[in-house]
Formats: sequence, structure tokens, C-alpha cells
Amino acid sequence: MKHFLKEIDFDKAQLLSFIDSALDFKAKKKAKEGHAYLSGLNIALLFEKPSTRTRAAFTVAAQDLGMQVTYLGASEIQMGKKESVADTAKVLGSMFDGIEYRGFSQQIVEDLAENANVPVWNGLTDEWHPTQMIADFMTLKEHFGYLEGLNLTYIGDGRNNVANSLLVTAAKLGVNITIIAPKSLQPDQEVIDLAKIQSTGGTIHITDDITASKGSDAIYTDVWLSMGEDADFKERIDLLWDYQVNQNLLDLTENPEVIVLHCLPAFHNTKTEISKTIYETYGYESLEITDEVFQAQSDIIFQEAENRLHSIKAILYWSLK
Ligand code: CP
Ligand code: NVA
Repeated sequence: MKHFLKEIDFDKAQLLSFIDSALDFKAKKKAKEGHAYLSGLNIALLFEKPSTRTRAAFTVAAQDLGMQVTYLGASEIQMGKKESVADTAKVLGSMFDGIEYRGFSQQIVEDLAENANVPVWNGLTDEWHPTQMIADFMTLKEHFGYLEGLNLTYIGDGRNNVANSLLVTAAKLGVNITIIAPKSLQPDQEVIDLAKIQSTGGTIHITDDITASKGSDAIYTDVWLSMGEDADFKERIDLLWDYQVNQNLLDLTENPEVIVLHCLPAFHNTKTEISKTIYETYGYESLEITDEVFQAQSDIIFQEAENRLHSIKAILYWSLK
């Protein structure tokens, strides 16, 4: 069964082939060349946490491939409340040809995969965000033309799903990865060890020193408080304030060509309900990335977002072709 649950389940060649397939699908889409290779199939999208990109990408990718899509939101199904994950998996697996899951623990998506008898895709858990990685490294490959030896620096909450995924995926792909985060938000030793075991030659550097961004080809950041986290927002802001992606941080890279990636959504201005409340309560106009940097880098950041479509299409096709 071809599940897509976490990066460590794949070797370097397989990860690279997802990226190449995604680039092919992107070219086909731009050329308006039809690719409904999976017509007649049905997939279910289970979302226990909100989503814009992942839901939209799975939906459009499946439809472009000729499939039908059913969205099952957290409050709309019995799973977890009246019915176990295993029973839900068996029922959905008997009706659908594949199941996407976004939610909390990784164990849930693993349990779905074990019981569904159809491919299961991880659309983000507390631990990993693997579909995001194919889009991110695809974007790096489009921009630089190569991956091995690139210097990628993640700065911010260094032990969330995106940071974990970047750490192991970079290690597997031979990309030099630096994670800059305050000590209490650095990756778990278990994830660092996984990255080290799976490394194909790139360096792995974990530090709380922002000057370690020197020489970066790409800077990556993510929200300071992830979905479902039970932490005090102000405490987290205080902890991460020195780790904001701003012009000073970009200057520290000493690379005028440095690019910035962000999986989105981003707190870069006061135009959302939450960011407005933060501004009114604490006076911060932006959090993990300033609006100045976000706007200057918006072409590549939105290219990265668009690539979620092409990369998820590559993954669906690999599972179901
Ligand atoms: N990057 C990402 O996963 O976005 P959504 O939460 O909107 O799906
Ligand atoms: N770390 C973020 C990623 C969102 C795409 C979260 O889990 O909320």
C-alpha cells in the first residue's frame, strides 16, 4: 500500500522523484494539457484542523486527475467521538480509494493507514508536515536548479511539525540544514538523531545563535504558535522575538541573493482577526516575519504555496496510478 505518512519512510531517490513528478505536473497544468489519469476514483479529505492550502491543493489535484473528492470536517464525522479510528478507517476504506488526514497525533494517521486498506496521506499532524516538504524542496530546486549542498536555515519554533519535517528531509536530500531557535524550542533529540541517521552528507546544525544564519541560501520560518498548541501566546512571542525574520536577520546572512520561504499562513501584518488582536493587546505589527521582508519575498513565498498543488498531485498519482 502506497501511503504518504512521513518523510522518513522514503529514501532520497523517492523524494527526488516526487519533486520531478511535481515539476512535470506543473508543466502540464501550465500548458493546459489534460491529465485525468485517475478518473472514476474517489478520495476522502478528513480535516480535524483548519486549512486553506492543503485542502485546496488536495481538492484541485484530485479533480485535475479526474477524481471525485469528499470533504469530511472534524465536527461532521463520528471518528474519535462515537467511533474509533480503526473502525472509521475500515468504513472509509471500503468506500473511498484513498484518505487524506490532517489533525493531531501522528498515531492517528498511522492507525488510519494500518486499517483502511487504501492509501492514506498525511496532510499535517503535530509531528510532521510531509506534503509541505515536497513543495518546499521543489521550490528550492526551481529557484536554484539543484538541492545538494544548499544552505537552508530554519528560524523560529524549532520543534514544530514543519521544523521537524525540514530537518529530516534536508538531511535526506543532502541539503545543509541549520535550525536556529531558543534552547527550549529546539528539536527533540529523537528527531535530531533521525536526521543524523538518515543524512546523505549534508551538515546538521542546531543553535540558538542567530548569527549562524551567515551564508544561508534560503531562510525558512513558520508561525510561532502552531494549531492545537496549548501555550501562552505572549510568552511564546517573548521567547521568539529575537528570532524574527527581518532585514537585520537577512543582513546577517551576508547573502544579498538570500530567499525566504514560509509555509503560510503568516503573521506579517495586522490584517487578520488574530494579528489585529495581538497588535491591539501588545503592539506588535508582525510576528515571525516583518511585512517588509514578506512583501519583498512574496513571489517565492506564493510560488511555494502554488507548488502545494503540483506536489500533492504527484503524491496522489504515485499512490493510485
Ligand atoms: N501550509 C499549509 O499547510 O497551509 P494550510 O494550513 O492553509 O493548509
Ligand atoms: N506549524 C504550523 C504549520 C501550518 C501549516 C501549524 O501546525 O499550525
